[in-house]
Amino acid sequence: MHFVRSILLASSLFAGSIHGTPVASTSYPIPSIVTPSNKTSPEYYTGKLKNSDFEVHDVLDFGILKDYNNEYNLDRDGGGSCTLSNRTFWWFCDTIVSELGIFKGFTSNSVALALNYDHAGWLRDISASSTYGIFSAIPFTEEEAENSKSIFTRYGIWTYTDCVVLSDTTAVHFWDVVQFTAGANTIDRGTTMAMYTLDPDNNELTVTREEQFYYTPAQYAYGAFANVVVNGIAYLYALDGKYSKRQDVHLACAPVSQLTDKSSWRYYDAASGTWSSTQPSPSERNASAAVISNSMPFSSGNIYYSEYHNQYLLVFFNNWIDNKFRVLSAPTPVGPWSTDNTVLYDTPEGILYNYGAQSTPVYYQTDGEMAGKNLMLAYTYQDIGSKYPKALKLKFA
Ligand SMILES: *[C@@H]1O[C@H](CO)[C@@H](O)[C@H](O)[C@H]1NC(C)=O
Ligand SMILES: *[C@@H]1O[C@H](CO)[C@@H](O)[C@H](O)[C@H]1NC(C)=O
Ligand SMILES: *[C@@H]1O[C@H](CO)[C@@H](O)[C@H](O)[C@H]1NC(C)=O
Repeated sequence: MHFVRSILLASSLFAGSIHGTPVASTSYPIPSIVTPSNKTSPEYYTGKLKNSDFEVHDVLDFGILKDYNNEYNLDRDGGGSCTLSNRTFWWFCDTIVSELGIFKGFTSNSVALALNYDHAGWLRDISASSTYGIFSAIPFTEEEAENSKSIFTRYGIWTYTDCVVLSDTTAVHFWDVVQFTAGANTIDRGTTMAMYTLDPDNNELTVTREEQFYYTPAQYAYGAFANVVVNGIAYLYALDGKYSKRQDVHLACAPVSQLTDKSSWRYYDAASGTWSSTQPSPSERNASAAVISNSMPFSSGNIYYSEYHNQYLLVFFNNWIDNKFRVLSAPTPVGPWSTDNTVLYDTPEGILYNYGAQSTPVYYQTDGEMAGKNLMLAYTYQDIGSKYPKALKLKFA
């Protein structure tokens, strides 16, 4: 279970790398499935916010988000989506593979493609059956792979948000890197940045990690909580998990075209409303610098622009395991963010609480209606002895 984590600082374990030499890289074929999506202009227009009551018209439950043609059962959790060249990828965390109840293997990550936007539950897994339980969608470094031969020292690479799309064929995605100690407890080792490069003509995906850690556990992990791209600028949101107990959201931004060059990044101070080129080195809580604070402690979520609301929305689960999708909104990526935590949908609880809330408007960017009126939601459901993602379509009134 990823939700409850012991966050011990291990900054002394932080290791850099020789720049330009990837610490891990892998390429694999993907099924030739395309799901054309419509790009909308993600831009707030000055004037009125619309439909601010966030009234929900109805919710369509698609059940399990999975590949219904796969003869294996995949027990997995968490994840996030990424849309490149009319393909929507779903990335998942700890994946246990079994067949008729018999264990076949385990990997830290698996990835699937959305099969059909009309049915948000349908995926097509990306793995040859011969590699189930061996194939890892996000590559380990040599040291991570070596330690992961034992369940007591294994690494976990976990994400709970969507990628940052850089172009039609490239994206970056931030993943927490944790290491298990004595089997059950984990320490936070830092955050890695996976780069995705899709070759759409040959249906091949390359995943590269330039460095083991892009952020140390002591830094704000910008982009690991949420991101939104507006007019060529990526806004990257970080949770302060250490000092604010996941209540404060800090913000950085960078031109999409220079995102992989950290010197182009700027860091926001909400107290003065200014951007600085100096990356904060937090040593205590700094709520006044945060764009969201004292709203609720956050678990996971996504930020995007909704034309239907003429607002940026943060759709999330809080950290109180109450199974409810909620929304905060703002007229700009910087804010001011609302603090009312409006409930959108109360997900049915299994044997334990739900977690890993995700949402994306990409499935229904027009759908005969204004973009943002419909939203695809996903979350991890915990059943007796297993956990898996479920999919919903939410329609605003
Ligand atoms: C996605 O598909 C649409 C419709 O087929 C097409 O017009 C568009 O160019 C495609 N986009 C990319 C990035 O391939
Ligand atoms: C809070 O953040 C601002 C902006 O990054 C910085 O100037 C200030 O020194 C920080 N304060 C503390 C107490 O860390
Ligand atoms: C994109 O727009 C077309 C034409 O309006 C529509 O048929 C299609 O369903 C839209 N795609 C999505 C993903 O909403």
